[in-house]
Amino acid sequence: MTAALIDGAALARSLRAQVAERAAALTARGHPPGLAVILVGSDAASSVYVRNKVKDCEESGIRSVLQRLPEPTPETDLLARIRALNADPSIHGILVQLPLPAHIDARRVIETISPDKDVDGFHVASAGALMTGQPGFLPCTPYGVMRLLAHAGARLAGAETVVVGRSNIVGKPQALLLLQADATVTICHSRSHNLVAHTRRADVLIAAVGRARMITGDMVKPGAIVIDVGMNRDETGKLCGDVDFDSVREVASAITPVPGGVGPMTRAMLLVNTLEAAERKR
Ligand code: GUN
Repeated sequence: MTAALIDGAALARSLRAQVAERAAALTARGHPPGLAVILVGSDAASSVYVRNKVKDCEESGIRSVLQRLPEPTPETDLLARIRALNADPSIHGILVQLPLPAHIDARRVIETISPDKDVDGFHVASAGALMTGQPGFLPCTPYGVMRLLAHAGARLAGAETVVVGRSNIVGKPQALLLLQADATVTICHSRSHNLVAHTRRADVLIAAVGRARMITGDMVKPGAIVIDVGMNRDETGKLCGDVDFDSVREVASAITPVPGGVGPMTRAMLLVNTLEAAERKR
């Protein structure tokens, strides 16, 4: 069997078109959706991410405000800026790009963002809302993965799903979303014994570990749907996922490529969350 490709780039494009339509409607009524993006320092990868976010906003009719702050910015200054954005009615979403410089407490920064503007879904109130099934913003990557699974026709109710990785940004919220969809959920991580025994039972396997090509074909159940959240560079500097695409493609029924799978969806869901935040104010 050769797995079907789950085209995240195409799905993200159609989501952006929907966002653009709804953003235009808000703007026509005099309430353009607005996203504030704060970047502290000049980390190369973060600069690229932030530039992409601003570009995505432009293309979907969301007003973005980028604040670039120098690396030595004191935490108190950053917190004051966030409080000002919390109080600004033209701003509906606030995103502080991570990682932050070591002298800044990222937790304190995230908890200062008003939960109703927390379009990253990183605030403890957003995490608690997800845990207890209350409305709140979902972290963009696991939210995008759920959309990809729906698009791929995955039947989650009662299914065996395995999430490899337990981060606060992906693994944990991903597991909660799958649980909410009535899946049976196993979370594996770097300390799991006999990882392959778990992954081979998965009807839906989600890799979010950050290790190049660690999920190989022999670890996958024939016919499984495999979602690759990884974004790594291999020894030759080539972009690759956590999944060994070539061997897994021969075993799975559907698979996301890297690039062109989860990545574009993460970006699209930020736009969805920002639009949602703006619509909730209306
Ligand atoms: N750094 C890497 N990914 C992200 C993200 O999704 N949001 C924020 N704020 N920072 C990041």
